[in-house]
Amino acid sequence: MRKITLQTPLDMHIHFRDNEMLNLVAPLTAKTFSGAVIMPNLVPPVTTKEAVVSYKQRILKAIGDEKFEPFMTLFFQKYNKEFLESVKDDILAVKLYPAGITTNSESGVSSIDSVELKETLDAMVELNIPLCVHGETNGFVMDREKEFMPVYESLARDFPKLTIIMEHITTKDAVELLDKYDNLYASITLQHLIITLDDVAGGMLKPHLFCKPIAKRYEDRDALLKVAIEGHPKVMFGSDSAPHPKHKKEACGCAAGVFTAPIALQVLVDLFDKNNALDNLSAFISENAFKIYDINPPKKEITLVEKEFTVPSSYSNETENVVPMYSDEVLAWSIQE
Ligand code: NCD
Ligand code: ZN
Repeated sequence: MRKITLQTPLDMHIHFRDNEMLNLVAPLTAKTFSGAVIMPNLVPPVTTKEAVVSYKQRILKAIGDEKFEPFMTLFFQKYNKEFLESVKDDILAVKLYPAGITTNSESGVSSIDSVELKETLDAMVELNIPLCVHGETNGFVMDREKEFMPVYESLARDFPKLTIIMEHITTKDAVELLDKYDNLYASITLQHLIITLDDVAGGMLKPHLFCKPIAKRYEDRDALLKVAIEGHPKVMFGSDSAPHPKHKKEACGCAAGVFTAPIALQVLVDLFDKNNALDNLSAFISENAFKIYDINPPKKEITLVEKEFTVPSSYSNETENVVPMYSDEVLAWSIQE
């Protein structure tokens, strides 16, 4: 039986939610990852030092004894330098959402304009705080990310010292932009390396594969897969695992988000293996992120074995029930207990 040991895997974009959902999902990530970047789109969003600190405490409580570092983020608003200085040591990055573009982003930014956001972004440069961006316009759903590219370009040009992470990129256009600006980086999810819009809506509608940004065309998926498996130094794994209760996914008006936390590593190993790229997996799931963010998470070894794993139909506790990607399907690799 083949085995592979991963050193300090990281998930650079995840939704842990709060309360009972947090208690259900956080341990699943903490079991297989050494650290993760925690998204701030709670209700209300995480916008104060107190909110960051207390959310981190709730996360640490939810994961118990597991060795795991939650890298906290602040929901972007216009902040002044004094405030950012006070919160700098508690966060890894600030996450910018265009207003209303995705789950719980109503209080996001309505006009992403370098002049308008200058005070905040200048302060972030000075304090060396990276900016993570959900890059979509409110245009036609398949073109939203492509239409956002000029916004990334002006941010990258106007703030050349700002580290900008294009979160969960889904298009060839975003991949091409990476090499054009030194200060642009990207995270890529699991599902966008594998599926296209065909898998979501080409046959029977698959609500559990519906997320923002929506999966795109074959040429987009192939461009994402190429940079991931070559270990391109500017891309890193960020699952965007986004749990919603089953009744909110299997509904008329399906919530956006794919829940991949408990299967991400197993599927990534299989995907890199099938592409003869296992040697580059550690760049994608840890080393690139170490360098991009200059972080030093707790060391952790995770061993996977080439042994079948049947994905549970759902993960639940007393109040929550969430369906993972590949529910009831058999994966080729499992986590060694
Ligand atoms: C995320 C969520 O549910 O919080 N949903 C999603 O489809 N990815 C928000 C986000 O990252 O866009
Ligand atoms: Zn997300």
